[in-house]
Amino acid sequence: MTKHLYIKTFGCQMNERDSEIMAQLLSQEGYLADAAVSEADLVILNTCSIRAKAEQKFFSLLGSLRQEKQRRPSLRIAVAGCVAQQEGEHIFERMPHVDIVVGTQQFWQLPAILRRLEQGKGRREVACGLAKDFVIPPFQKLLQEQPVASSSPSKFVTIMQGCDNYCAYCVVPSTRGREISRPVVDILEEVELLVRQGVKEITLLGQNVNSYGSTNPVADKATTFADLLKMTAALPGVLRLRFTTSNPQDLSTELMQCFRDLPNLCPHFHLPVQAGSNAVLKRMHRKYTRELYLDKVAELRSFRPEIALSTDVIVGFPGETEEDFAQTISLLEAVRFHGSFSFKYSDRPNTRSAAFSDKVDEQVKSERLERFQSRQNEISLERNQEFLGKSVEVMVEGRGDAGLKGRSGSNHIVHFAGPDQLQPGALVMVTINHAGQHSLKGEMTK
Ligand code: SAH
Ligand code: SF4
Ligand code: F3S
Repeated sequence: MTKHLYIKTFGCQMNERDSEIMAQLLSQEGYLADAAVSEADLVILNTCSIRAKAEQKFFSLLGSLRQEKQRRPSLRIAVAGCVAQQEGEHIFERMPHVDIVVGTQQFWQLPAILRRLEQGKGRREVACGLAKDFVIPPFQKLLQEQPVASSSPSKFVTIMQGCDNYCAYCVVPSTRGREISRPVVDILEEVELLVRQGVKEITLLGQNVNSYGSTNPVADKATTFADLLKMTAALPGVLRLRFTTSNPQDLSTELMQCFRDLPNLCPHFHLPVQAGSNAVLKRMHRKYTRELYLDKVAELRSFRPEIALSTDVIVGFPGETEEDFAQTISLLEAVRFHGSFSFKYSDRPNTRSAAFSDKVDEQVKSERLERFQSRQNEISLERNQEFLGKSVEVMVEGRGDAGLKGRSGSNHIVHFAGPDQLQPGALVMVTINHAGQHSLKGEMTK
């Protein structure tokens, strides 16, 4: 009998990929990931803990499921992801209507856990172990015979778990554990599987992709991230390749040269800087300086002048002065990022900066965020105007109210008119004739 699954994902691309994998593993147990909450037999919330707000959003959605569970006691509620890892069985205390808690290394067990609960073996389960030598199971073998879950032409492939950097503000090392790379062969097999299913664009994922291979007990230590990128780029059918996230501290020349040498590697680089002040970077435990960051940007542009850059910025890190913040703005002016994600600092559990005493006032943080974002918006618009009159390659993603929608190699959303038969994944050339702050418009030329 078909059962219905509702799955809601919070947080990063890694969680998005984990959710897809959970949905596919559960489809083998007869669950169809098609339901609204009110019709679901199983609800999975795949959670994120990166900022206080992300966690609050999840808890308020979870709280609102209490009534649904009272109305339909057969409904099963599972919590996965980074808040699950962080809270473990404490989630039951706060939210007694939860049935299952699975951590970031344990979600593979969901099918088995569900079977046990269905057979009446226990009322609830928690699996939150986090092992130093955890190896991502070769799940691509399990997924082999699965139908494609969605028609999206672009997919993420996780190449490593966890993080060893311990930036002072960051919850990830405690929620995702130690950094562990997946074996090369597993990654390439998964990419090949996705390509067979019709995927055209692959994004390799890790918190710190530059150190791929170096911390792995099982994988090929001699394989650098640049090597892996080259191997992936060479697989037939990978029309486009991207990756995220890169830490500036160990960004190698070899990796930067890939932007010159690999034609299917998209000309976009997300390189989180976090702050423009060396004093703040140091307290954040980011192991690079503003000067090193700017050098890397210059080197990268020497290999691919048109490369679009984006970044992440935290404003109001403990102790950040007006002078420090001015340094972040001046770095923005120096690089002129095409776009950025900027956040107000928030304390997270098990992080060093949570214990720092010189916290920045909430109002000051809001005001700095506003200043940063309004300057970024102006720059983004000016950057986008540089595309006017240029012809860019666009991968079709779908059709919206205003015609076709796709993405340029530089990672800009592009709207354009085109024939109905164009399928997601098709590559077309579009001449840009309108630039907005967040997207481009143009006309298809071929
Ligand atoms: N591994 C990536 C970042 C992953 S987290 C890297 O090293 O850059 C995504 C972003 O969330 C971070 O880049 C940072 O800007 C933001 N972030 C992380 N912890 C935060 C916190 N405690 N408060 C506010 N923003 C935070
Ligand atoms: Fe967090 Fe730093 Fe690791 Fe990124 S590199 S996940 S910010 S600890
Ligand atoms: Fe969030 Fe965990 Fe990703 S904290 S950003 S879901 S690694």
